[in-house]
Amino acid sequence: MTPPLAATSSLTRPADRLAAIVPSRIRVVFDLAAELEARGHRVIHLEMGRPDFDTPQVVKDAAGAALAAGRVHYGPNAGSWQLRAAVAATLAACGGPRYDPGSEILVTIGASEAVFLAVMAFCDPGDEVIVPVPAWPAYEACVRLAGATPVFLPLDPDDDHVLDPARVRRLLTPRTRMVVACTPHNPTGAVVDPGRLAHLAGILRGSRVLVLADEIYRELVYDGTRHVPVATVADLAERTITVGGFAKAYAMDGWRLGWLAGPAPLVAPALRVRQFTTTCPPTFLQDAAIVALRDTATEREQMRRAFAARRAAALELLGRQRILRVGRPSGAFYLYLTYPEQLGPADDFTLRLLEDEHVAVVPGIAFDPTGRGRHAIRVSYAASMDDVQEGIRRLIDYATARADGA
Ligand SMILES: Cc1ncc(COP(=O)(O)O)c(C=O)c1O
Repeated sequence: MTPPLAATSSLTRPADRLAAIVPSRIRVVFDLAAELEARGHRVIHLEMGRPDFDTPQVVKDAAGAALAAGRVHYGPNAGSWQLRAAVAATLAACGGPRYDPGSEILVTIGASEAVFLAVMAFCDPGDEVIVPVPAWPAYEACVRLAGATPVFLPLDPDDDHVLDPARVRRLLTPRTRMVVACTPHNPTGAVVDPGRLAHLAGILRGSRVLVLADEIYRELVYDGTRHVPVATVADLAERTITVGGFAKAYAMDGWRLGWLAGPAPLVAPALRVRQFTTTCPPTFLQDAAIVALRDTATEREQMRRAFAARRAAALELLGRQRILRVGRPSGAFYLYLTYPEQLGPADDFTLRLLEDEHVAVVPGIAFDPTGRGRHAIRVSYAASMDDVQEGIRRLIDYATARADGA
């Protein structure tokens, strides 16, 4: 008798590479918040990783016009030439390197795709990628999907969670292929200064280590902090793949548009991955994205100022207490708060805060697989000023009561 081709039990078995890919811990918070709202409660949303603003009207109008004009067909794999040129011009105007739109820029489906393409294009099984944590969870997931190994570098709360190149040096091995540098940083708001980047350049000089510079929050910096593009420091340009996008500073997260930029030999392999995954970004959205880059400076500055005011209000409230530690977050729209162990694990802390006080925040474990996130939460101030202030007040009262009861 012919044996079956495969046992029935293996029919639905996912690929091994998915074994370490777990659903995001942020989901649990979203689901419970939705349930509370369905029961009629008003939840204060400080868990959001996106602006609470609408996309500027000129951009929406441009998308409508492009759609009406029949811009509905496939475009070039790398993204429309005009948008690549606009991205290159924007990066140069903001003090970045002058990239050639023809060979050094890809328009991607959000910064998410840019990160995925960069990792897939350069990381093999056995390669190591240094991921400073806490971190946006997709770095670890992409590295694992590529079959490579994430090596976690703990960011120090006593150093405001700013990347310390000396720690990178300690983790380097002959297998290191990439270092992630996210600045401004999600979830801590930390901004890496040029001195540290120069130090990093010196450490990596002569190695085969690439830098994945995630600069999606580059425009969202406060209190006179300056964002310095990683690729502009010392000789980092030759090894740096920069990713960015429209989701945060442009309030266009749902448009799913971003970019990847770097020297042509680093961009061409990413394009090869893209050719057989998403093919190209939506054509009519790319037309509108040109308008977003060119004609929305006023709206973007208004949004940045609103974030700055909410950040200041949140820090002012937090400055009056000692239980939740915040450090000096200079960018993005997050505060990463650490607290004493006796207040209990972050997943319980966040769920009870949501159930009892109707304030949604994200547990630190969502960003830190090393366990150091067990006593930390991420608070987003991409919410109205009233919600930020009321949410932080409730959070402080809740943490104080938990500390008193501990
Ligand atoms: C650091 C960081 N990089 C990339 C992304 C993904 O951005 P996009 O929505 O453009 O894919 C996010 C989203 O939260 C992020 O926080």
